[in-house]
Amino acid sequence: MRKQIAAANWKMNCTFQEGEKLMDNILEANISLSDHQLAIFAVPFPYLLMTRSAVELEKNYFVAAQNCHHQKSGAYTGEISAGMLHSMNINYCVVGHSERREYNAETNTMLAEKVNQCFENFIIPIFCCGEPLNIREAGTQNDYVAAQLKESLFHLPADTIKNIIIAYEPIWAIGTGKTASTAQAQEIHQYLRSVIAGQYGEEIANEIPILYGGSVKANNAKELFSCADVDGGLVGGASLIAAEFIEIIKALK
Ligand code: PGA
Repeated sequence: MRKQIAAANWKMNCTFQEGEKLMDNILEANISLSDHQLAIFAVPFPYLLMTRSAVELEKNYFVAAQNCHHQKSGAYTGEISAGMLHSMNINYCVVGHSERREYNAETNTMLAEKVNQCFENFIIPIFCCGEPLNIREAGTQNDYVAAQLKESLFHLPADTIKNIIIAYEPIWAIGTGKTASTAQAQEIHQYLRSVIAGQYGEEIANEIPILYGGSVKANNAKELFSCADVDGGLVGGASLIAAEFIEIIKALK
């Protein structure tokens, strides 16, 4: 079975102590994950080691960075490279979240370089795509997200891209309490998979987990994750509340 993933995205939230407590509370629930299920915590950079130690003995619990730089190294004060993350045993990194595209002017071309940096350093990118409201209203969301994949991912060879995780996050649903309906989510996830299949073939497309993001909560996770092409979620707000995220992990197929 394709990997099913509950990924927490803490964004710029929690003090260090609140983060420790949140991890304790989630892990106390003792949810044992099957081989195909993963829980990944994308935490702020200074909390990576704490979170990594917290999950060290847990099967299929992992830690992710929320970003990395698109260059290998150099005079980029305040930035973090994929090589640094690898040297800290961090195996996942969120790439191209819509907030970074908007506030840090990250372009599809720059994200292609970030994805390369990740793979060169044995880090699996959790690559985010998704359309803003005006594109959804114009009905051109499929072309918009397909271009995001093509411009940032389709230079990758098949045996590399097959390891990626994609997160489809409609911008109009992020932090707004509005969720895509299951029909909307399934439709665009299936479309994204068909775009990947068009480039790399069905077998590769069927291996790649496509997560849904945008106001996933304990009370809608099960329904969203039940869609055939929705392989879990990338969760912001609800990942900061232990009781919510525990239910979201439990909602994985
Ligand atoms: P949200 O954020 O769950 O708070 O909508 C999702 C995300 O931005 O990854």
